[in-house]
Amino acid sequence: MTNEILTPQIPEEEPARQYYYMELAKQLVAERAEKAGRPLTCCVTTFGCQMNARDSEKLKGILETIGYQCVETEDADFLIYNTCTVRENANVRVYGRLGSLKSLKRKEPETMIALCGCMMQEPHVVDTIRRKYKHVDLIFGTHNIYKLAELVFRALNEEEMVVDLQENTDLIVENLPVDRKYSFKSGVNIMFGCNNFCSYCIVPYVRGRERSRKPEEILSEIRRLVEDGVVEVMLLGQNVNSYGKNLETPMTFAQLLEQIVQVPGLERVRFMTSHPKDLSDELIAVMAKYPKICRHLHLPVQSGSSRILKIMNRHYDKEQYLTLVEKIRAAVPDISLTTDIIVGFPGETEEDFLETMDVVEKVGYDSAFTFIYSKRTGTPAASMENQVPEDVVKDRFDRLLALVQKRARERSARFEGQVKTVLVEGINEQDDSLVTGRMDNNILVHFPGDASMIGSLVDVKLDCCKGFYYLGSRV
Ligand code: 5AD
Ligand code: SF4
Repeated sequence: MTNEILTPQIPEEEPARQYYYMELAKQLVAERAEKAGRPLTCCVTTFGCQMNARDSEKLKGILETIGYQCVETEDADFLIYNTCTVRENANVRVYGRLGSLKSLKRKEPETMIALCGCMMQEPHVVDTIRRKYKHVDLIFGTHNIYKLAELVFRALNEEEMVVDLQENTDLIVENLPVDRKYSFKSGVNIMFGCNNFCSYCIVPYVRGRERSRKPEEILSEIRRLVEDGVVEVMLLGQNVNSYGKNLETPMTFAQLLEQIVQVPGLERVRFMTSHPKDLSDELIAVMAKYPKICRHLHLPVQSGSSRILKIMNRHYDKEQYLTLVEKIRAAVPDISLTTDIIVGFPGETEEDFLETMDVVEKVGYDSAFTFIYSKRTGTPAASMENQVPEDVVKDRFDRLLALVQKRARERSARFEGQVKTVLVEGINEQDDSLVTGRMDNNILVHFPGDASMIGSLVDVKLDCCKGFYYLGSRV
């Protein structure tokens, strides 16, 4: 910490302002720790997607700098819930958790409770919390995660619930502390927000408009990560294929990838999520050219019915999607394809659903996330008539899941007997004589090994496919 940051003048520029507040909050936390006779602890609970998981690493980085010890259990001094709102059940879980924290807060009033993330960007949620969950100390959203130090400082000083929410913003604050979950792999945000407005989706409302990080910032973060032992990065964005459109000097995602694969020491690059409408021939060519780019593409189809896709505002139809899949497979033959599918979108008929089944049959996904349509207040689909009855949706969901699993099992077995490079991620949870690693196509492999192998890339013979994973042996 430099002295100029500690001048009484509160810096207006970021991130200097946050480093200033980190120092102040650190003093408060140290005082409380001294009073308690032990270090203060914090627990960050994450709901939702990879984007949220990465945000939680940033929250932990700041909390540790302030002096909290991060723990995995919710008996901590400071509880933060990083929420998701993509489907209603994510919200229900958060309310359930808040309800059960009421008695804890009565018994231990010093415990601090904070809520952040996507759900907090919805005004009706914040209203409910203000009315029914007064024991919450701090609420902030998706646009001001970088401000955590300043907000914690306020929450430690103020009696009232601190609520700090920002509407859409262009601001991207760089160079704040991060506490990574894995030493050898890391997510890297390349863009924030989404401009697509699929008619069922709340994300554009809670994450704001698309903003791309500057390529030089992304590259220097990746170089720093590699120096720190990272061999695999996952480039994160709601729609990575439209990266760079709003930069001062526009560039394409394929051009960014080409620069990233040149970083010495970086062994693997992944990315998600790809919107089919923006997936360019240029990107397919770059994927084919560089083996460092993982042979995996997550390509959400959402529905196989061209009629439904139009109402979903997806900007492609069934034939265009299937043609795209063919083009990708022709250029990168062994690629794994995964997808997201929604069942029971308003007005979905049996015929529409059978089109979805047909796409699953034809593509042969390595795996697919299947979701029951969830009505999100404020989205165009929420006010559509002809919502599909629950029992019909449930029946379709079960049929879809069975087909997805059958095709995935068939597809996953295609590498049996081959030797593949695996990045070892940890000791196997069931059997500690085994380690668990991931092939570049994202399939898991378990094989004999020990902790010294964690983080290294090793060649493994895929002896036997067990459905969605392999048992292997080192070669
Ligand atoms: N209902 C169900 N699933 C949804 N998704 C997004 N919005 C909804 C919704 N309202 C799914 C989409 C998306 C994934 C992240 O979540 O399939 O790709
Ligand atoms: Fe991620 Fe979307 Fe959920 Fe937010 S609402 S956590 S962006 S899945």
